Amino acid sequence: MDGEVGPVLYDSLKRLEYRGYDSVGEAAVVNGKIVVKKDIGKIDEVERRLRISDLSGSIGIGHTRWATHGAPSQENAHPHLDCKGIVAVVHNGIIENFMELKQELEASGHVLRSRTDTEIVAHLVEENLKLKIGFVESVRRAAKRLTGAYALAFVCADEPDKIVCVRKESPLVIGVGTNANYLASDIPAFLPRTKNALLLEDDEMAVLKHDQVHVMKVETGEEVVRKPFVVEWSVETATKSGFPHFMLKEINEQPLTVRNALRTQPIYLELMASAMNRANKIFLLACGTSYHACLAATYAFANLAKVEVTPVIASEFIDSYGALIDKDTVVLTVSQSGETADTLTAVRGAKDRGATILGLTNVMGSTLTRLSDVYIGQNSGPERGVAATKTFTAQYSVLIKIALALARKRNVASSKDIQRLEDGFNRLPEWVSTTLSAQRENVRRVVQKNSDKGSFCFLGRGISVATALEGRLKLLELSYLPAIAYPAGESKHGFISVVEEGYPVLFVAPQDEAYSKIIGNVMEMKARRAHVVSLVEGNDGQVASLSDETIQMPNGIPSLLTPIVFIVPLQLFAYWMAVMKGYDPDFPRNLAKSVTVH
Ligand code: AGP
Repeated sequence: MDGEVGPVLYDSLKRLEYRGYDSVGEAAVVNGKIVVKKDIGKIDEVERRLRISDLSGSIGIGHTRWATHGAPSQENAHPHLDCKGIVAVVHNGIIENFMELKQELEASGHVLRSRTDTEIVAHLVEENLKLKIGFVESVRRAAKRLTGAYALAFVCADEPDKIVCVRKESPLVIGVGTNANYLASDIPAFLPRTKNALLLEDDEMAVLKHDQVHVMKVETGEEVVRKPFVVEWSVETATKSGFPHFMLKEINEQPLTVRNALRTQPIYLELMASAMNRANKIFLLACGTSYHACLAATYAFANLAKVEVTPVIASEFIDSYGALIDKDTVVLTVSQSGETADTLTAVRGAKDRGATILGLTNVMGSTLTRLSDVYIGQNSGPERGVAATKTFTAQYSVLIKIALALARKRNVASSKDIQRLEDGFNRLPEWVSTTLSAQRENVRRVVQKNSDKGSFCFLGRGISVATALEGRLKLLELSYLPAIAYPAGESKHGFISVVEEGYPVLFVAPQDEAYSKIIGNVMEMKARRAHVVSLVEGNDGQVASLSDETIQMPNGIPSLLTPIVFIVPLQLFAYWMAVMKGYDPDFPRNLAKSVTVH
């Protein structure tokens, strides 16, 4: 571009500030050298400290980091450099094979300065540059060695006229301007400068110069011809990727966030499984949606790993179980924010009694990560909607992987069961995505038909009790309707007195071990003339034929994975109910995203 890059990078990063981050950085090529400015903190704090907007040069890259591998710190902030400071890279996503590549690079003399998965990419490019094949080809060959999800952007001191970028699964969009071109993970970054955008597809890369954009395939280097489109969105709409609310955007992100959660490095799963294997008592600790993920995981630990764990609501933990906690206790704590006061108080109480704390959170560097002996980041990216959606499915995805690691360690699962689950992990993103596209309009129609009802009940059996409870929580927190959720078998012990003609009962009814029993529960409700809406597999016969309305789910999901797919229509159900009632689903009344008071 013409002019200095610093103010443009600063302004563009500010436009993406809504996404949430813990550190900021920029790199530009100035007089044939790469200059990097980066630090932890908010953009304006880092600006005051380092004057990032003063960066000169006409080519540069910037980044705001949401920590995944390695806590928030100056070293871990992007951009990252190679050994010689010739290549700088910024990255969104997860490099799955970074441990192997790191070992390989260190063995050949590279010195890595950070704990990120990103830095190895700069060193891979450095290795390739030694072959005198040029910057673009060096990036292409480096990208071919990566597995995982990534949007990467590079600058190189040897070729200061270009930015090279690569995409696989993580979003990357190019802004085509006049005598300047831009790239970003999200359109709002460049929207005031150009409305002409060009989307990179998976396994494509692009070379940006001030007056040209070349797109090519990573595999072959073959050129891709693609025309830009004109972005009609306002900045406000663009921040939500075209969705009217963050919640709907986040619901729709789940095919990717589930996949990212399943990418958790085996070493951390192994560490957690080992700690749990040594324990005398294991508690799963959380609040709200995170508690429901724990509840579902309880079935997985019992049925897959053959281990008894006790799920506990954090605010009840010390009063109920304080007397039992000792050094042989493991407390696996789940908190999206890592800052929930009830959860942290319970964790501190357990720590004081000598327990080992395992943490699962979406916020690296949060208090939970500091209190934990071992922690895992669930890789969901920032969640803006107060109602947890993508973080629930990601939490449970990691928890089931921990349960599987424990089952393997204890040698208690058959290879057939393990294989079925592994196949299921591979298909989960597709199941979620099919459900979203196939049921979007159907769920909206069901909501429309039932929007005058004053109360709802959600029933399930087995692992689907957790799904029912989470569906209930979503509905009541967003549409302020009294809602009930029960194990379906328990409903005849009290709840059934509430049921009268037309009362809406939602059944979560996958064809799992509990299916034959839930048929009887549906009949009980129909006998009281309830209005039954059921979530059933596509090939379902009996429950579907007894129901007034159905929401059809994919066939053949392994029972332990059903919460991840069956919760999706219930999230949409709550979303549409709130919208139809005129409430803002992103900001429900009386609720905070992170509850930091007791
Ligand atoms: C979920 O939709 C709620 N906003 C709430 O129940 C939340 O899950 C709970 O406060 C726990 O938060 P945490 O996961 O950040 O600890």
